[in-house]
Amino acid sequence: MIVTPFADATFGAEVREIDLTRPIADADFQALYRAFLDFHVLAIRNQDLSADQQVAFTRRFGSIGEHANKRYRHPDNPYVLLLTNEIGRDGKPIGVIDAGDMWHSDSSHHAVPAKMTLLHSVRRPSRGGDTEFCDMHAVYEALPDKLRARIAGKLGIHHASKLLNPRAIISTSRPDAQENYEESARERPHMRQPLVRTHPETGRPSVYASPRFTIAIDGMDDAEAQPILDALFAYLTDRKAPYLLRYKWQDGDVVLWDNRSVNHRAVGGYGMDDIRRLHRTTVAGDAAFYRPAA
Ligand code: SIN
Repeated sequence: MIVTPFADATFGAEVREIDLTRPIADADFQALYRAFLDFHVLAIRNQDLSADQQVAFTRRFGSIGEHANKRYRHPDNPYVLLLTNEIGRDGKPIGVIDAGDMWHSDSSHHAVPAKMTLLHSVRRPSRGGDTEFCDMHAVYEALPDKLRARIAGKLGIHHASKLLNPRAIISTSRPDAQENYEESARERPHMRQPLVRTHPETGRPSVYASPRFTIAIDGMDDAEAQPILDALFAYLTDRKAPYLLRYKWQDGDVVLWDNRSVNHRAVGGYGMDDIRRLHRTTVAGDAAFYRPAA
């Protein structure tokens, strides 16, 4: 197995000479896990995994995550979620069309968010369809002292419903979106998460907030909180920033990332008839916390 840091980014690495369809020796897995912590995003090329093989590999990283979305699960294995713009014979989508279209860290609206997400690219579109990542440790390090002081000890309020989010637009290409977001607005709780999170394994602090899920700051009115969130989210769209990386998919790629270190988003830019298909698995995580450096 060879791990090579991405040449054009300050984080992320490519992994070659590993076959994920076969059991991975413990020593190799330990090296892979170390690379996951060090580089936050790993791209493993040239894989052809069945749904069961993808789940077996994902389980090496911890307990497999369940998908709240029951409608678009892979027919062969319910732990694999289909992200695709394909339409079934009945004229209905067979997967989530607009998954991850805004910057986020997966399931930060849950009490115990996903530690890791893994996507296996089965088919990439002829143009577009990239995924961007942002190193949120580097964002924390880049914050001016004043902004760092404003968010110290504060909790962000996270929610899954785009209807409660002033920054979100609901995709018109997903027929059940409105109904789904109405239901989640009604049924899901608001979740409080530290705005600065300590990585439970490396001890590094990061900004733990995203335009997709962080809708307010606990104990602050919107007139004060929204400009602070805008200032944090501006780091995600600063095109010159060294802590952003844009991943261009190849068929057969397996890309996995540490949700405790990065935010990500699906960039889009492809037509509905230009098929993009990814198989998604997650690893259950640990509750977010902040511990000041000793
Ligand atoms: C996701 O946010 O889980 C999906 C990202 C992508 O489709 O590029």
